[in-house]
Amino acid sequence: MSDKKIIFSGIQPSGSLTLGNYLGALKNFVNLQEEYNCYYCVVDMHAITVPKEPKELRKNTLQVLANYIAVGLDPDKSTLFIQSHVPAHAELAWILNCFTYFGELGRMTQFKDKSKKNEGNITVGLFDYPVLMVADILLYQADLVPVGEDQRQHLEITRDIAQRFNNRFSPTFTVPEPYIPKVGAKIMSLQDPTIKMSKSDTNENSFILLSDSPDDIRRKFKRAVTDSLGVVAINEEQLGIKNLLGIYTKITGEKIEDIVSRYEGKGYAEFKSDVADLVIEELKPIREKSEYLLKNKDYLEEIYAKGAQKAENAARKTLRKVQKKVGFIPKTFKIQQ
Ligand code: TRP
Repeated sequence: MSDKKIIFSGIQPSGSLTLGNYLGALKNFVNLQEEYNCYYCVVDMHAITVPKEPKELRKNTLQVLANYIAVGLDPDKSTLFIQSHVPAHAELAWILNCFTYFGELGRMTQFKDKSKKNEGNITVGLFDYPVLMVADILLYQADLVPVGEDQRQHLEITRDIAQRFNNRFSPTFTVPEPYIPKVGAKIMSLQDPTIKMSKSDTNENSFILLSDSPDDIRRKFKRAVTDSLGVVAINEEQLGIKNLLGIYTKITGEKIEDIVSRYEGKGYAEFKSDVADLVIEELKPIREKSEYLLKNKDYLEEIYAKGAQKAENAARKTLRKVQKKVGFIPKTFKIQQ
């Protein structure tokens, strides 16, 4: 086996991915795949913690996988797979449930937020969501977990549960570190730059989807909320412009000051139109490759089958250890199917 450090991350197939997912997470995944042994999962079991149409879920699951490949994740370098294909996730989650306290899950802010939105329909699955995420991460003995700031609390509970289990028995799990991009890395809504860009926003003009056409992208940037100051500058009063500058620098890699000085004396219209052009250029090959892949379902199946096999081998090893430690009788026989 390689002595590379292990990375695990997952994205929920809860809709088309946005420019925020891409610049905030996916683009980074690609940079990490040379240096680390990476597992990138499409977490379909997490997606059903809130009501989902089966047809939509199937479509979105393949779409996220296609997006993974289209942005440059290489199935020969990284393990790309679908969570429900590796039953060890559910099996480990059950065991870890028995090492997790009701109170600690009740304190999860994402649970509190999501249950407010789904009042009258709060399932045990939504409550237990973090434990499934803990299982995802610990199964692969991940050292690092690239996630957004909103997942920090889930990473903390992962570390707590790993340590608790290790202390109760003997060292079993690697205690992972979060790998959270610096502040300012977050892409905000184009309609309200105080909130995160999200595909579940009811206002379609607030987000850019990886599948958006050039015309859609141009229109959405034209309508992006700015301010009445009329000067391209970086400060906390001009959050809309700050967000657009963030998108600009993430795509070109230029320093913000250099971009700002280029727009001295120029209005927002030109700036917005240039940002739109950059985004259109950046997303064009991704959209085209994703569309191509989604028409080649056999190829996608080959990728996720191979990924599941690799993931299964790694996950089983951890699961066996855990089962043994808690006192389950080793399963030395095979059940005929
Ligand atoms: N909860 C994560 C999110 O919504 C997705 C996720 C599930 C995940 N399992 C994971 C992320 C394991 C990192 C590691 O963004």
